[in-house]
Amino acid sequence: METGNIPRVGTPADEMLMALSKEREDDLDWRGGKAFSLVYNTDDPELEALQHEIAAMFLHENALNPFRYRTLLRMEAETLDMARGLFGAGAAALSSGGSESIFLAVQTARDSARARGVLAPELLCATTAHPAFAKACKYLDVKQILLPVRGDGRADPAAIANSMGPSTALLVASAPCYPFGVIDPVEEIAALAADNDVLCHVDACLGGYLLPFWEKLGEPVPPWDFRVEGVTSLSADIHKYGYCFKGVSTILYRDRDLYKRQIFMYDSWPGGLYASASAAGTRPGSPIAAAWATLTHLGEAGYMRLARRVLEATRGFRVGIESIDGLRVSYPPDMSVFEFSADPDSPRVVDIDAVGDRMDERGWNLDRQQGGLHVMVSPGHDKVIDLFVEDLSSAVADQGTAGGKAHTYGDVVQD
Ligand SMILES: Cc1ncc(COP(=O)(O)O)c(C=O)c1O
Repeated sequence: METGNIPRVGTPADEMLMALSKEREDDLDWRGGKAFSLVYNTDDPELEALQHEIAAMFLHENALNPFRYRTLLRMEAETLDMARGLFGAGAAALSSGGSESIFLAVQTARDSARARGVLAPELLCATTAHPAFAKACKYLDVKQILLPVRGDGRADPAAIANSMGPSTALLVASAPCYPFGVIDPVEEIAALAADNDVLCHVDACLGGYLLPFWEKLGEPVPPWDFRVEGVTSLSADIHKYGYCFKGVSTILYRDRDLYKRQIFMYDSWPGGLYASASAAGTRPGSPIAAAWATLTHLGEAGYMRLARRVLEATRGFRVGIESIDGLRVSYPPDMSVFEFSADPDSPRVVDIDAVGDRMDERGWNLDRQQGGLHVMVSPGHDKVIDLFVEDLSSAVADQGTAGGKAHTYGDVVQD
C-alpha cells in the first residue's frame, strides 16, 4: 500500500525538537513587542505559565461528549456564565474563534428569516465589517449587501435604512471594526432592526473582552452590547483581548429561542443521538480549559490592570505617531486598534507603503491596509513605545520607495 509522503521511518523526538527550535528562530517574535495583532501579548509570565500547564493538562480531552469530561463541562458552563454576565446575554455558546461565532450568527439569522417566509435572506453591513461575514454569506447562501461608511469610518445607518427590504435578515454593527478601531452606531442600527423586526448582530470579536473594562476606566464608550434594545446576537473572542491562546470565542444571544436555532440534534444514524451547540464536532479540551483558567485567574482586577496598560500604551503610540510630520491617525479610534496613514494636509509627502517597508527592515511587523498601516496594541507594547516612535520617525525620514508588498490580512492561501 502507498503511504504517500509519510516518512517510512519516524523522526526521533529529540532530533525533531532541536530542528524545530532552530527553524523557529526566524518566526515572528511576539514577546519582544514588535508584532501586532496576531498575538495578544500580556507580558505576564505567570499567566503564560498557567496557560501552558492547563493546555497540557487538557490536551487530549474531547468536549464532543462533555458528560465524559465533567471538569471540562463545568469549566465551559462557568465560562459561558461569565460571558453572559459581562454582556447581559440570555444564552451563549463557545466556538473555535471569531469566524465560527459569526457563521453561527449568520446561520441563526438566515434560519429565522426563512422561518418567516424569506426565500433569499440578505445581510447588510458596512465595508469595514470583518471578511468572516462575506465568508459566512458565501458558505451559507446569504446575500451580503456591502454599504459605504460615513466620513468618520463608521457604518452609516441612513445607508442601511435605504437598503433594507422584505428579504433583510440581519444588520451588522462592529464594536469596533478591525481596520479602524471605531465602534459603529449600534443604537441606531439596532433600532432599525427592531423597528423592522429583523435581527442585529454586534461583532465585538475584538472589543468584547476589553470595552467593559475600558468603560470602567472612565473612557467614553458608546453603548454596544445587549443593553442596547434591538441587539439580538453578539460575538466576542476570548482569544483576543480575553488573553487566552487561540481557539476560543463566545457567541451570545439575547434569548434562548434564538440560540436554539444554532443547536443541532440528529439521531437518524446507527450511532446514537448526536447533539452540538456549535459548528464543530470534536472539540479540543485545551482552549475551553484555558479560557476558563484565564478569566478566573485574571478576574476583574486583572482585566482592569491589563486594560489600563493597553489604554496608556495606545495613548503613547497615538501621540508619538501624530508628533511625526506627515503622518496622522486615519480615524480617531474608540479603542486600542487603529490605522495611521499619510496626512494629506501636510506639506511633507509620505509614501506609507515605503514607511511600512522601512519599519519591516527595523524588525516591526505592521500590517498593510489599503489606506495605511495597522496598529493593534497589547499590554506588552507599553515597553516599546519610545523605540517604535524613534524607528517610525527615522523610517519616514528615509522612506525611499516601496517594494510593492501586497496589502494583506490573514491567510495567504497555499496550494
Ligand atoms: C472585528 C473582528 N471580527 C471577526 C474576526 C475574526 O476572528 P477570527 O480570526 O478569530 O476568526 C476578527 C479577527 O481579527 C475581527 O477583528
